[in-house]
Parts: sequence; structure tokens; C-alpha cells
Amino acid sequence: MKIVVYFVIVVAIAIQFIRPDFNNPAVDEKVTLNADPHVMSTLKTSCYDCHSSETKYPWYQNVAPVSWIMSDHIVRGRKALDFSNWANIDPKVKLERLERAKQMITNEMMPKHEYLWIHKNAVLNKDDKQTLEQFFDEQIKELGGTLNNVEKVKI
Ligand code: HEC
Repeated sequence: MKIVVYFVIVVAIAIQFIRPDFNNPAVDEKVTLNADPHVMSTLKTSCYDCHSSETKYPWYQNVAPVSWIMSDHIVRGRKALDFSNWANIDPKVKLERLERAKQMITNEMMPKHEYLWIHKNAVLNKDDKQTLEQFFDEQIKELGGTLNNVEKVKI
């Protein structure tokens, strides 16, 4: 039995040496999203840790295997939707992302649940949801899209 405990301790220490890269990419003011302050604060509180280059890291970013899960969320989150690269996203892709973002919020699929266990302030209340939905709708219209009928594209 003792040997199992030692083994677990050794593995727990050993995995700490596999560290993801947590350096945020530089933010270019020319391409980053710049919206109404209320929209910005909602997005920054609930989405920016995984969907921008402005990720705020907690102390447990240094603790494996939590750090690996965080890194995976950030890498895949930025790939799916990057508010720091907003102006550079292809309009067709952007339209689809915006439509998906609305669905994600309505169905409470974003922010991710495991993130909300720790970040209680990132939970979207009714007002926050309305703010974001309104913003996404405005963006869809600006891009010439029709609400609830956006062409599907593969990214
Ligand atoms: C803890 C990290 C995290 C947070 C916070 C987060 N997301 Fe995500 N998001 C992801 C990841 C990872 C993906 C990639 C697909 C997946 O794993 O579900 C993703 C995918 C998406 C997609 C693309 C989904 C698709 O399949 O087309 C949209 C849209 C999205 N997120 C919107 C949001 C919005 C809006 C918020 C804030 C209200 C938010 N996310 C908060 C991690 C996050």
C-alpha cells in the first residue's frame, strides 16, 4: 500500500515539470475588438480568458494537470473565436461564429461549466445575456447577415 502512495506522490511531482506556454500574444489595438464599454466588460469577464490574448492567469496555472486543461481551453478557445484578432477574421467565418455565439449563450454552453465552478463572476445573468445577444445581432447585421439564417462555413 505504502508503495502506491509513494508512486502517486512521485508522479504528481514529476508531471509538474511539463509546463504549457502561458505567454499571452501581444495585443494589436488596430485589430482587437472595440465595442461599447458595457459589452466589453461583459466579454472581458466571461469570455476573454479563453477567447482573447488578454487571458488572466490564476495561481493554479502552475499546477499540473489543471494547467494542461487550462492551456487546452485557451489554445482551442482562441482558435474558435479570438476577440483580439477581431478585424482579421474572415467575414464569412465571423458571421458563423457570431451565430454560434448566440446559440452558445442561449443554451448555456459558454462560458464552459468547469470554468464557472471557479469563476462565479463569469456566470451570465439575464441582463448580460441580453447585452451580448444584442451586440452579436448588431454585428451580424453590420456584416450583411440575416438573423437566424447564417450560412454555415467550415473552419
Ligand atoms: C474556459 C474557457 C472558455 C470560456 C471562458 C469561454 N469559452 Fe467559448 N470556447 C472555449 C473552447 C475550448 C472552445 C472550442 C470548442 C469547445 O471545446 O467547445 C470554445 C468555442 C466557442 C465558440 C465556437 C463554438 C462552435 O462550435 O462553433 C463560440 C462561439 C464561443 N466559444 C463563444 C464563447 C463566448 C461568447 C464566451 C463568453 C460568454 C465563451 N465562449 C467563454 C473555451 C471557452
